[in-house]
Amino acid sequence: MRILVLGAGAREHAIVLALRGEEVRHEIFAAPGNAGIARDATIVELDPDSPAAVTGFALANDIDLVVIGPEAPLVAGVADAVRERGIPAFGPSRAAARLEGSKAFAKRIMEAAGVPTGRATRARTLDEVAAALDAFGAPHVVKADGLAAGKGVIVTDDRDAALAHAETYLPTGPVLIEEFLAGPEVSLFFLSDGDRVLPLSPAQDFKRLADGDAGPNTGGMGAYSPLPWLAERFGSEAAFVDLVTKEVAEPVIRQLDVEGSPFIGLLYAGLIVTDAGVKVIEFNARFGDPETQVVLPRLDEPLSELLLAAASGRLEGRARPRFTDDKAVTVVLASEGYPGRPLTGRVIEGTDAAESVAGVHLAHAATRVDGDDLIATGGRVLNVVAVAPTFAEARDRAYDAMGRIALEGGQFRTDIAAQA
Ligand code: AMP
Ligand code: GLY
Repeated sequence: MRILVLGAGAREHAIVLALRGEEVRHEIFAAPGNAGIARDATIVELDPDSPAAVTGFALANDIDLVVIGPEAPLVAGVADAVRERGIPAFGPSRAAARLEGSKAFAKRIMEAAGVPTGRATRARTLDEVAAALDAFGAPHVVKADGLAAGKGVIVTDDRDAALAHAETYLPTGPVLIEEFLAGPEVSLFFLSDGDRVLPLSPAQDFKRLADGDAGPNTGGMGAYSPLPWLAERFGSEAAFVDLVTKEVAEPVIRQLDVEGSPFIGLLYAGLIVTDAGVKVIEFNARFGDPETQVVLPRLDEPLSELLLAAASGRLEGRARPRFTDDKAVTVVLASEGYPGRPLTGRVIEGTDAAESVAGVHLAHAATRVDGDDLIATGGRVLNVVAVAPTFAEARDRAYDAMGRIALEGGQFRTDIAAQA
């Protein structure tokens, strides 16, 4: 197949690596990509957020499938435009992507579909915020309504900090005050063709910057998959996946279809396993980053076939995707100053040595080549990904490899998957 992958993060590198690893050889194009993706795909110069640029390239180059990684092109209507020209696109329409882009929309869909989620109140003024905070009690959860790259949410015991966070976002629109949900988090991905869903394997993301879940929220500092503790609580991982498929994914996909916005692409359910059952904290309309980096290496069948089947309305009758029993761990290397103001432009050394560790590969995020140097160009720089028969080995491999990489001021967590 001739496949165009849009995006520039480690998630997109993971997608490209999975496609590249298939037995069938594909022609893979990527825009804008990064230094890692450039090793595994042909980089094309086009604006991934421009529907006209993407469809123009896809038509001129006989692209069979467009895979949209990040949310920005979805919100810009790239998937709509590509499908209008008769080319399969893996990624929801602008209308369906509101499931991620608007927390208020997501809450309404969940309510209509009867999906379990935390209680929430929309507040337009600081007085409304204060009243809602006091009604729910601490810990306080305040969310900006739009896309905020993982930074629009605060969870805090400090009422003043919750108010201050709301004050930052109120000028851009209402904020959501939500009931705090206690319990471990799970990210579960579903492929959807607008009508049917197929679950992938669960993963857990580490959203806080520092060890022990200290520090600010980030886009994600590490992840692991599968989640052995799910079997203890639900009897088996499959039982958990069945439950979420029936109680969350299928009703939401049905509701979007009924409302005339069928969801074609990846439905990301962000869940909390509370004592009162599994509840949704958020949906995303795309693969998660860094969870994708640990889910796709365990996928035991060709990714391209699954993505194409979803993009062309052909999931019916397909069996659930199979995964290996391997354990996968990823650790994110971030620049000094991330998530606030990352310091960029620094040289990254030791990546070859890191990749020489058995079972380890790197998924690049914010990297660029300059002569012989690899340069960090953003907040989350790269992911070390390790796959092994046990979590202990996967962790050892990941941290052995991370220890070989040098980036001045680089930050990473040392406790990823430690409890797995
Ligand atoms: P979100 O952008 O909605 O995924 O929120 C980012 C992170 O904040 C989540 O991954 C959770 O760790 C935390 N969070 C969000 N909503 C809640 C909630 N209602 N209760 C507890 N933690 C939450
Ligand atoms: N890892 C969280 C996200 O992709 O939104």
